Amino acid sequence: MPKHVAIIMDGNGRWAKKRLLNRINGHEKGAEAVRTIVQTARKLNIAVLTLYAFSTENWQRPQPEISGLMLLLRRFLASERQTMIDNEIRLNTIGQIDRLPQAVRDNLSAVMDATATNRKMVLNLALSYGARAEIVEMVKQIASKARQGAVDPEEITPETVAGHLYTRGMPDVDLLIRTSGEMRISNFLLWQIAYSEIFFTQTLWPDFGEDEFVTILKDYQHRERRFGAVP
Ligand code: IPE
Ligand code: IPE
Ligand code: MG
Repeated sequence: MPKHVAIIMDGNGRWAKKRLLNRINGHEKGAEAVRTIVQTARKLNIAVLTLYAFSTENWQRPQPEISGLMLLLRRFLASERQTMIDNEIRLNTIGQIDRLPQAVRDNLSAVMDATATNRKMVLNLALSYGARAEIVEMVKQIASKARQGAVDPEEITPETVAGHLYTRGMPDVDLLIRTSGEMRISNFLLWQIAYSEIFFTQTLWPDFGEDEFVTILKDYQHRERRFGAVP
């Protein structure tokens, strides 16, 4: 079983368009798929599940869509809080959280506090997340420590870098899934996916369910991970 699964949840808008619905209806349906996949991941003992929910680039979307997404996020936190407690899931966020509306940040902190001691799974929500911004932040922190003399530039290792990313303390991504048929990374976890197995599926995110997730996990188990070495 992979320790860390990351998912680019894409295709809500197209799911809605196909049904002549509003994009927000697609995001609502997408939130239901999130619920299912979180429960499946927990059931299968996956240690870390990272979900790309909102990117730094998504701030360019029309204001009503952004507000709709923020409201859905708050609803999701309210409805999932008890389930996360019952299933020993710890909520964590990665991204530029200070850019989120105050009400969203308050809801996030409350659920993170309520689940802080849970140890069975980490649910990492990537919110206002961009890998380039994460890397810039990491460089700034290490440079500042070097200036203060707390870090010797000669001693910087891949572990130093990993230790200054939002995902510090978590294993690298073993399995990356992107729904909706797009074959790109869209500024997600660039460092952490260095040796991930990647699966692209045509399924639009609201239609992604337990069966397909399990099929991908089984397929993952048949992949030979060489990490550059000879098998
Ligand atoms: C993914 O669905 C959800 C977010 C990016 C917030 P999209 O909204 O990108 O859906 P498409 O790609 O337009 O179908
Ligand atoms: C990536 O999807 C971000 C999330 C799933 C949150 P986008 O729909 O924003 O990505 P692009 O624009 O197709 O690359
Ligand atoms: Mg998209």
